[in-house]
Amino acid sequence: MYSSSVLETVGNNMEFKVKDTALADQGNLLIDWASVHMPVLNQIKQRFEKEKPLKGAVLGACLHVTKETAVLVQILKAGGAKVALCGSNPLSTQDEVAAALAKMGINVYAWRGETAEEYYWCVNKVLDHKPTITLDDGADLISTIHAKRTEALKTIKGGTEETTTGVVRLRAMEKAKALKYPLIAVNDAYTKFLFDNRYGTGQSTIDGFLRATSVLLAGKNFVVCGYGWCGRGLANRARGMGAHVIVTEVDPVKALEAIMDGFKVMPMSEAAKIGDIFVTITGNSGVIRKEHMIKMKNGAILANSGHFNVEINIPDLEGLATSKRTLRPNLEEYSLKNGRKLYLLAEGRLVNLASAEGHPSEVMDMSFANQALCVEYLMKTRRLKPKVYNVPKKIDDTVASLKLKSIGVTIDVLTAEQKKYIASWEEGTV
Ligand SMILES: NC(=O)c1ccc[n+]([C@@H]2O[C@H](COP(=O)([O-])OP(=O)(O)OC[C@H]3O[C@@H](n4cnc5c(N)ncnc54)[C@H](O)[C@@H]3O)[C@@H](O)[C@H]2O)c1
Repeated sequence: MYSSSVLETVGNNMEFKVKDTALADQGNLLIDWASVHMPVLNQIKQRFEKEKPLKGAVLGACLHVTKETAVLVQILKAGGAKVALCGSNPLSTQDEVAAALAKMGINVYAWRGETAEEYYWCVNKVLDHKPTITLDDGADLISTIHAKRTEALKTIKGGTEETTTGVVRLRAMEKAKALKYPLIAVNDAYTKFLFDNRYGTGQSTIDGFLRATSVLLAGKNFVVCGYGWCGRGLANRARGMGAHVIVTEVDPVKALEAIMDGFKVMPMSEAAKIGDIFVTITGNSGVIRKEHMIKMKNGAILANSGHFNVEINIPDLEGLATSKRTLRPNLEEYSLKNGRKLYLLAEGRLVNLASAEGHPSEVMDMSFANQALCVEYLMKTRRLKPKVYNVPKKIDDTVASLKLKSIGVTIDVLTAEQKKYIASWEEGTV
């Protein structure tokens, strides 16, 4: 079903491997459309073009190859960097966009439908460019460097990580004293997770779900597994579409929050019996397993929007099934031994990217503005210790201010008296 072109080398150390370069014109149109909705990145681009703060940087990026990522890549290039890019999920690459990037002179190695072997071939090709800074989404690039390509550490100054699961992996590496270079947790910037994880994942997961199924959401029992930043967004959007939303959690505080936000909370063993739709979004593994699947109603639909395809135990589903067939793109029907049918979307991979286009450009504008400014920060900062760092508050505030400016909103500023008041402890009841 899937194919890719051969590796093409275009003089001067520039090479790429994408599905089909003939798709480049279509890709350019998609990138133009994304750019219209990314005013923060465009403001940064104007400065980068003048100041060239990334001159001399070689950026090794493992990001979902979407139209928004292409806008980011153009800005990094405008700042003077050389960029090598691979996808951060085998099913998330938009082939038109990859083709357009190849034509723009970006070293891009990505096509939709990579096998696991091909996926890591692409990751390794990026590392062959000897990056000075890495940009990752899920930490596969970073873990490959630490486990198999340690020679790459010689040139690397620092890196950034885009998503919750990647940051969790990095913090585990830091704890185990395995981390060999400094990394900035872009995910943990307020202007990232409050908007991208919540509103971006919320909307795009519904988008991916509907493109794959086209079923009615109103009146359905919609089970959201995990009430973190992404889960909150998804639960609210599903409610907005008229679904009865049920939340499953393992964290008592989040469970309580879901209840007070107006959702039903119950364990998966109970939710399994009544859900029509199940979406995992936890960053954990084995959230939906065999013991849940056998309880599910005939026709239940399962999807995942968490980073890796381990949240729904697919080997369990395969084991319970007597046959399976693909009914339409990203929709597989499993016939179970108990006579019921279950439906799995996008092979259990990120449904919003595999079956739709990922997050809307407006939220990626802020996430990727953090990426661009953090790369600039790493270029300007003297060697940092190998630790996981938060995005500097100044960058977070800059991104928010640029976004407000772009939508024409001004806000109040603290008076001198207010600044003094909130910094003092002497004043109390008057
Ligand atoms: N689809 C996308 O485009 C996209 C975008 C951003 C983040 N993500 C990914 O989504 C996942 C969640 O991210 P987040 O920012 O919401 O993380 P988060 O840490 O804010 O929330 C995860 C929640 O899942 C809960 N959880 C863990 N195990 C569970 C289980 N077995 N059953 C029920 N709940 C469980 C946790 O208690 C937590 O409340 C991560 O893998 C992240 O990388 C995906």
